[in-house]
Amino acid sequence: MSQSSADALPESLVVVSNRQPYSHEWTADPVEGAITTDDVAVTTATGGVTSALDPLMRSLGGTWVAWASGDADMAVADEGIVAVPPGEESYDLKRVPLSEAEIEGYYHGYANQVLWPLCHEESGRIWAKPTYWEQYRAVNERFAEAVREVTDPEDTVWFQDYHFALAPRRVRAARPDATLHHFWHIPWPAPTVFDHCPRGEAVLDGLLACDVVGFHTEPDADHFCRCVEATVPDATVDLDDGVVRYEGTETRAVANPLGIDVDGVRSRAEASDTDAVRRQMLGDTVPDPSIPVVLGVERLDYSKGIPERIAALDHLWERRPDLRGAFTYVQKASRTREGIADYRRYRQDVVAEMQRINERYGTDDWHPAVYTERRLSAETLAGLYRVADVALVTPHRDGMNLVAHEYPTACVDGDGALVLSELAGAATQLDGALTVNPHDIAEIADALERALELDERDRRDRLGRLQASIEALDSTNWVERQFRAGPD
Ligand code: G6P
Repeated sequence: MSQSSADALPESLVVVSNRQPYSHEWTADPVEGAITTDDVAVTTATGGVTSALDPLMRSLGGTWVAWASGDADMAVADEGIVAVPPGEESYDLKRVPLSEAEIEGYYHGYANQVLWPLCHEESGRIWAKPTYWEQYRAVNERFAEAVREVTDPEDTVWFQDYHFALAPRRVRAARPDATLHHFWHIPWPAPTVFDHCPRGEAVLDGLLACDVVGFHTEPDADHFCRCVEATVPDATVDLDDGVVRYEGTETRAVANPLGIDVDGVRSRAEASDTDAVRRQMLGDTVPDPSIPVVLGVERLDYSKGIPERIAALDHLWERRPDLRGAFTYVQKASRTREGIADYRRYRQDVVAEMQRINERYGTDDWHPAVYTERRLSAETLAGLYRVADVALVTPHRDGMNLVAHEYPTACVDGDGALVLSELAGAATQLDGALTVNPHDIAEIADALERALELDERDRRDRLGRLQASIEALDSTNWVERQFRAGPD
């Protein structure tokens, strides 16, 4: 691999991810003839992968390969390629359009009804229709072909997440001398759970074409090696060093926790108009500007533990009637993967539970819980974090969970408390949170009660420790650690 000696970064890079950093949508019905900037709107993705990798790609140059999910994506591209970021073009985005059948089988199918539930230890939710595997394989092949088109023999390619377990093996066949990295952003399960994986050996075979496979935590990297040992008979596994030798490749499984763009979140929080954000989010429902806010921010995903959290609020208000009226819970939720029945049902359940506790405890003067699915800008979200006195982050299982990084970082006034699931990767990395078992409703209620009643010194001390541990994991360090783990 060609690397600058100073920082181990490759000289140019091909990134492969399902979601793209920029997408183009028609603002109105497309018109015949030349497209003008009035006809399309560009949206910038706000997730952890984009905020870590877009700055890297801007400085290195190269190509980012991703699914063309915006309806104007292909129209504005030239043979699928568009230079980005808009107005500051510094790298290429190569878009791969997918048919309805491919989206169904690859995205709604094998990726999100097999690998996602498997890795979040929800094996009862696995549903593996034959077309899911066929399409997952075919789409991985299409992405591998797109990578082949934009790479030279010794280039570096970095695959992102569980959507691309098979593509590395296809790329390796065509580019034996390339350096291949993967980062698995979700948990990796223990062998007894991985046993449930339909086509599990093929998934491992695909990943073992990489030189480095990154995970957020040591247990994830260790589980991966143990699954290889249990499932791939021809692989030689060194569990102590996290190295697998198989089919001529030496693969290192490394723990490399992802962080956030700390300066970006902090400066957005500092710039936010907290009174305006409070009014925008809480409006007339919470007229008292001094009432504490407890916050939850997540996609409506069954791994996030939202019903248990609502049950914990119910339990706390039942047990401590004096806390009724003492704070308002704000749930910022985002709709997600609605092509899958489990997700549609989950959303219905969450909405119904939010209504139920409001009906049960609401009074003329107090609205217990505010629920919103409004899309928030990164600026408004940072302001909302800053407004919140406590954040509840209680997933059943999570690779990392970046809300647990963003909330403390946005508490630029030096005050705020985090209740965190001990089963989120973040709990293994961050110091200062009040940790809970996400299934233990009484424990979540107790931790919230404690967070609300911590004395100021303890609260500020915990927040300071959280901020220091988050800063050490800044996303720039994540990128450098990944490449430092690669071959010399
Ligand atoms: C998780 C995954 C990401 C994914 C995100 C949103 O964080 O690790 O790869 O992009 O969820 O899910 P979606 O299905 O909307 O891309």
